[in-house]
Amino acid sequence: MAANVSRRNFAKLFAVGGSAALLADPIFAREMAAAGDILPAGPSAGEPFWKSVREQFVMPPDLAVMNAANLCPASRPAAEALSRESKSVDTDPSPTNRARLMPEKEATRVALAEFLRVTPDEIIITRNTSESNNMVSNGLDLKAGDEVLLHEDNHPSNLVAWQEKAKRFGFSVVVVPQKNPHPGAEYYVEAFTKAITPRTKVMSVTHLTSTVGDIMPAKELAALARSRGILFLLDGAQSFGLLDVNLADIQPDFYSGSAHKWPCGARECGVLYVNKSAQAKLWPSVYSAYPGAVGFSKTFESFGQRDEATMIAMHEALTFQSKVGRAAIEKRSRDLTTQLMAGLAKIPGITNWTSPVAERRVAVVSFVPGTLDANKLATALYTNDRIGITTRGGKDRPGIRVSPHFYNSPAEVDKLVAALAKYMKSGV
Ligand SMILES: Cc1ncc(COP(=O)(O)O)c(C=O)c1O
Repeated sequence: MAANVSRRNFAKLFAVGGSAALLADPIFAREMAAAGDILPAGPSAGEPFWKSVREQFVMPPDLAVMNAANLCPASRPAAEALSRESKSVDTDPSPTNRARLMPEKEATRVALAEFLRVTPDEIIITRNTSESNNMVSNGLDLKAGDEVLLHEDNHPSNLVAWQEKAKRFGFSVVVVPQKNPHPGAEYYVEAFTKAITPRTKVMSVTHLTSTVGDIMPAKELAALARSRGILFLLDGAQSFGLLDVNLADIQPDFYSGSAHKWPCGARECGVLYVNKSAQAKLWPSVYSAYPGAVGFSKTFESFGQRDEATMIAMHEALTFQSKVGRAAIEKRSRDLTTQLMAGLAKIPGITNWTSPVAERRVAVVSFVPGTLDANKLATALYTNDRIGITTRGGKDRPGIRVSPHFYNSPAEVDKLVAALAKYMKSGV
């Protein structure tokens, strides 16, 4: 038990007649975690601080996984909450035990709203970004003659989804070409401005691309959409939990995210933000029981039986990230990206797809490892060097993709760069 759990809680512990009952209480568990000194210093302490952050992940210290754009490990507080809460429901599935989960779901909504700097009335708890994006493309009244404007570099849940629904509902999809390397915010603002017509009803943009880590000018494009009466969806799969996102500033109509990526929460939990001004325009995709308790969730979030354990885990993940510091997390990932880019630039034969301009990219770096087979290289890095990265197949900027997050270290980036230099010389 954490050393400085308050006297009040010790009193509570004995008052309820045993530690088991109290330890099953998530609010108490959260207070205990906050009371414990899991992060003894702040980011200004440098590497010792980041080492203590890394210790809040169960990944062994010798395993350097830099694949956050795909899947992050749950932080220890999130993983512990997930198993504690799952066990609690399986141990005692009585309505009385489960009744406490509804307030926990609402507490998660409040935490999400604080994290994104909006109101709980605008938060829907979903399964993931895919579901959130599809709830927007399913839920808007679009018809023949309407246009949806996107850029090329969107995930299937935000590109193929629109194209398939266009076939069904008769609207059309207009795609703004992506330029590589990132040509700067002005290019996209101009390209979207030129592509808007009186028929444009929706603009959909990915905040940070999963392909090469391009930061899209979300705020400028949201303002452009708003000024033309166009709805604006911002796909936040790669920005939620990485960038210090402020939706009150960006002001999109919709924003989507997944807990299992950069927030380091549980798998199968996500968020859909729906701006108050857009709520009347979005039909629910699912009608069932157990709606949320506030705002839009009362009519939009009747998704039937849910797994509250994943939601509580997401809440813990957000609390942990806030404790580390949102701005510090973003800076850490930016610094590791810059270090990686500098290291790659020194290796002869590597062609980088990711922008060399620091302001235009973050945390997702894709490159061609010369003539090396990317799959064999990834296997060698994992098997020989304990480094986990991913490959990009197909014709669109294929090669290797590396996505470091705040649990990675400069030493891990150095190790990756040294291993790459070795294989580029020796082959795999
Ligand atoms: C930009 C983007 N949008 C949406 C998704 C889908 O996320 P999920 O699989 O969590 O639904 C991804 C996944 O990589 C993504 O990169």
